[in-house]
Amino acid sequence: LILVIDYGSQYNQLITRRIRDLGVYSELHNPSITLEEIKELNPQGIILSGGPRSVYADNAWTVDPGVFDLDIPVLGICYGMQLITHLNGGEVIASNEREFGATNITLDSEVESPLFKGLNEVETVLMSHSDKVTRIPEDYIKIAETSNCQYAGIQHRDKDIYGVQFHPESKHTENGDTFIKNFIRDICECHGEWTMDNFIDIEIEKIRETVGDRKVLCAMSGGVDSSVTAVLMHRAIGDNLTCIFVDHGLLRKGEAEMVMEHFGEGFNMNIIKVDAKDRFMNKLKGVSDPEQKRKIIGNEFIYVFDDEASKLEDVDFLAQGTLYTDIIESGTETATTIKSHHNVGGLPEDMQFKLLEPLNTLFKDEVRELGIELGIPEHLVWRQPFPGPGLGIRILGEITEEKLEIVRESDWILRDEIAKAGLDREIWQYFTVLPDIRSVGVMGDYRTYSHTIGIRAVTSIDGMTSEFAKIDWDVLERISKRLVNESEQINRVVYDITSKPPATIEWE
Ligand code: XMP
Repeated sequence: LILVIDYGSQYNQLITRRIRDLGVYSELHNPSITLEEIKELNPQGIILSGGPRSVYADNAWTVDPGVFDLDIPVLGICYGMQLITHLNGGEVIASNEREFGATNITLDSEVESPLFKGLNEVETVLMSHSDKVTRIPEDYIKIAETSNCQYAGIQHRDKDIYGVQFHPESKHTENGDTFIKNFIRDICECHGEWTMDNFIDIEIEKIRETVGDRKVLCAMSGGVDSSVTAVLMHRAIGDNLTCIFVDHGLLRKGEAEMVMEHFGEGFNMNIIKVDAKDRFMNKLKGVSDPEQKRKIIGNEFIYVFDDEASKLEDVDFLAQGTLYTDIIESGTETATTIKSHHNVGGLPEDMQFKLLEPLNTLFKDEVRELGIELGIPEHLVWRQPFPGPGLGIRILGEITEEKLEIVRESDWILRDEIAKAGLDREIWQYFTVLPDIRSVGVMGDYRTYSHTIGIRAVTSIDGMTSEFAKIDWDVLERISKRLVNESEQINRVVYDITSKPPATIEWE
């Protein structure tokens, strides 16, 4: 077991995930964990994660300094390295220069740190910090630096204690996997055999233990996450599972039909389709704030389930396809809120169900792997992600029927062209956005004053970070022409060329 202590960085579950990729079991724990509890877990290595706070702030999360004397290897990442410094008598100060993004780092080759085995003298890493270490504790040596960060890596002279200011768990750190592998395999000497199959067995066991012979409702959207959740639940409890598919009127074209055909008929599961379009549209009338929209949609979802469940008997649980990314971006005890994902931040206080979220430690690509392992056909497992709040968060500002129609039709055209260009698997997610702006154009001899459509297409591995897809101009041109020609409401098309971070994938 590798213990990761969670100081709230957006990247923390990525750390446990990279460790799982090495076939080693890993758990994320709160900073409130005591030294006794750590000893009881008996980890083979401890990682102190990144986090948004300052180590010297009043409300700073810390760790019992006893961890440095347990003879267990410790790696501090970003905040974690600052914590090692602070607790051992070094100095951390707020820096005027925020260092953010891909940075070149020079690894000290003379030290021959085991953490840097197989790496180049200069590596590209992701930096994301404002505080920095200005004096390292006695008994520590510097092992890496960047042009504006003197101590980008430190190590204890005699013990297996290491600190790095950058984020090896991020894909923006080019050889991040090697840094992590060096720590896990060589320093902690873990050679685990953890697999997705273990995950299925462990989860099914957990579900059966929690649920017994009671009944469960599953929130089924037809998306990858909820389909995998439903199949996993079905495998665990069979006919005690009922799936509810809510058509909230914010779905893509053809979506409802597809779900009922594939899952209702294809898989042998109970699915009830609820037409709740009017309910959602009434609640959303006049609302333009993105967080409020997300919360309303999230709440309404649950109320609809509540209503449906009351028609059934003895339903105690609600299963949701919440992923780790949904949780972390909605804010946890230690992490800052980025946006409230509908199935997390949007839960109403008076909810009647106990929640089951069997995927909430996984990332998207792991869920796909799990889906295949569970026997779900590839074309369903490889569908692009579609957010729970649906087209509602792709219309900036107030949602109206007219805007929904524009975004739905434009999404349909985009999907068609991307598929024709053979890019539907290569591009992780692609959709259209309707910003609330109109601009002037000319068609024939006439002036137009119509909507602008934004195209968003990104490549990503887990949705936590992404790059805009470098689609050929020819393909973009075809899409643009069709959008403008086939809709009188659109006279301008723009392509979103921001990555995440600093933007997010969805616009709201
Ligand atoms: P962002 O916009 O946060 O999106 O970069 C990351 C991924 O999550 C999807 N997303 C959601 N999925 N409920 C969901 O089930 C939500 O509320 C939600 N918001 C964003 C988004 O489509 C992208 O794949």
